[in-house]
Amino acid sequence: MEDLEEAPPEVHHYESLHEVPWDIQNYWAQRYRIFSKYDEGIWLTDDAWFGVTPEPVANKIAADLANSAPADRSILVDAFAGAGGNTIAFAKSGKWKRVYAIEKNPAVLQCAKHNAKIYGVDDKITWFEGDCFEILKKQLKDLAPYSVIFASPPWGGVGYRSDEVFNLRTMEPYSLTTLYKEYAAFTKHMALYLPRTSDVQQMANYVPDGRQAMVIHYCVEGHSKALCVFYGDFTI
Ligand SMILES: C[S@@+](CC[C@H](N)C(=O)[O-])C[C@H]1O[C@@H](n2cnc3c(N)ncnc32)[C@H](O)[C@@H]1O
Repeated sequence: MEDLEEAPPEVHHYESLHEVPWDIQNYWAQRYRIFSKYDEGIWLTDDAWFGVTPEPVANKIAADLANSAPADRSILVDAFAGAGGNTIAFAKSGKWKRVYAIEKNPAVLQCAKHNAKIYGVDDKITWFEGDCFEILKKQLKDLAPYSVIFASPPWGGVGYRSDEVFNLRTMEPYSLTTLYKEYAAFTKHMALYLPRTSDVQQMANYVPDGRQAMVIHYCVEGHSKALCVFYGDFTI
């Protein structure tokens, strides 16, 4: 891709190992699994490397959402777009009339827009810079009856890597309660991308009596990478 855009100072396209900060080197080694078109000029901030959903996982989530979402839903809202890993996969899936992607960090949002152009799907996406909870309430409220929300929040807090069971009540900066309540005020159809060790009982707390939720683990090389909990009328 001819690159006429200027990257903000915190955005990089690292081309060789010696440029890469030590704490990202493991991720950089997997760059083609993260973005198969990495060499076409993918942009990332140093922090975004840790949160981006690898392309095969993002594609599988996009296929699962496309196959299981209620028939009356034609809009996908990606509440935490990051550098675009999931947003690009949703746009590529061909299922959605429009993908609305929200990201509060301006430099990361610029990465997502740039990366979507590399994948040739930028024209299918409407971008928002800001807080997803505010944007859902103010700018997107009219689209609620047609929408499904996907959210891959930050997994901060104690023990995401070390604890046997990840406590979704102390997840930072947004607990499962916050995410569920905020999104349920917009639509009951949502898919949340959470740590693979997430507390199953805490996820079940939000399933109405007599209804069901789906939990799907997404695996890479025989290991669960993360899970998605699907609330609402998804059918597989
Ligand atoms: C785990 S990353 C998302 C990664 C993304 N799915 C991808 O594949 O690139 C979470 C992102 O949420 C953004 N974020 C955090 N709070 C937010 C909010 N209230 N509204 C919108 N974006 C937010 C962070 O800046 C971060 O980029």
